[in-house]
Amino acid sequence: MMVEKQGFKHFMLKEIYEQPGVVRACLDAYFNADWNVGDSTNSPVKLGLPEEIYANLEQIQIVACGTSWHAALVGKYLIEQLAGIPTQVHYASEYRYAPSPLTPNTLTIGVTQSGETADTLAALAMEKERRQDKEPKYQARLLGITNRPESTLGHMVSQIINTLAGIEIGVAATKTFIAQLMAFYALALDLAYLRNSISSIKLQEIIDGLRQIPGEIEATLEKQEDSIGQLAHEFAETQDFIFLGRGINFPIALEGALKLKEISYIHAEGYPAGEMKHGPIALLDAKVPVVAIAMPGSVYEKVISNAQEAKARDSRLIGVTPLSQGEAAEIFNDFIPVSKVDELLSPILTVIPLQLLAYHIAALRGLDVDQPRNLAKSVTVE
Ligand code: G6P
Repeated sequence: MMVEKQGFKHFMLKEIYEQPGVVRACLDAYFNADWNVGDSTNSPVKLGLPEEIYANLEQIQIVACGTSWHAALVGKYLIEQLAGIPTQVHYASEYRYAPSPLTPNTLTIGVTQSGETADTLAALAMEKERRQDKEPKYQARLLGITNRPESTLGHMVSQIINTLAGIEIGVAATKTFIAQLMAFYALALDLAYLRNSISSIKLQEIIDGLRQIPGEIEATLEKQEDSIGQLAHEFAETQDFIFLGRGINFPIALEGALKLKEISYIHAEGYPAGEMKHGPIALLDAKVPVVAIAMPGSVYEKVISNAQEAKARDSRLIGVTPLSQGEAAEIFNDFIPVSKVDELLSPILTVIPLQLLAYHIAALRGLDVDQPRNLAKSVTVE
């Protein structure tokens, strides 16, 4: 199938704009529109995963690379906080040579948008092999989260969550990441429902919140694209960036930094805001801007205070926050407003301005946004 840019300057920008539609497609596919709090016959989530995937589950381990690894970190947060299942996230390239000791009743999830990343496939193959002659509770349970169910991954694992993002041309993943997040919301909520670890009312609240997200992304795109484009001019010559986040937005700080380095070739580091004092703070001065993701919730005050420490070192502070203009101006030098949403849902929203910021900086630098140097859409060699 021939994919066109449809008037967008780059595929990446088009794909950023396709994200509300991707979230809608995932909502339709993964959630039961007829379910409500009083419904005890139907399940709110319709992933169609068989009982043997979930039965007596004690632990989940996730293997992935790159942006998919960041989605997995959000997934870990959701699964642990909503379903209460201990979850570990591994770089596939590390795990394949140093796997954790075998644990019983463990679900192994491979996350790969292409379904072809060599390290992720090898980690899954190794896991399958080392468990095959073991007693039943140690047998492999493998689940793939992928945008290409027809891929090698699709043939390797017994169960798939199809991420429904459509073909992604830009090497730097955007809409496939959002779709992976949606897959993890569905999985975590399905597990929480089956294990009764959250109330039906809370479940309904989260699903209702998810249904608002496409509109919130549209509003962010509509309101912010021009202002982020303007802001990007300030950083066309910048050489280093720090991205800070905490809790469920720490992986988004990593993803914001990854997007920027992939396409603009600017050095960027994502850091958990509370760790800044243990090293990165030494890097800070007026030449190193700091992007802080500050969403109301359990770690909000902490992020603000970490960000202010950066400002005190003369860093230019850019906030991604729902604060009003007046409030934000007291804390940040620049700010990118996003809507106020439940903290648990915020990563789907906070990543959007970071994608746009990376895109505009790279485009201003005249770089090949869709095909950055040295990178490939999927890495099929070790
Ligand atoms: C490459 C791409 C990244 C991607 C990573 C993992 O490095 O450039 O954008 O995140 O592979 O790809 P996967 O297909 O496994 O998600």
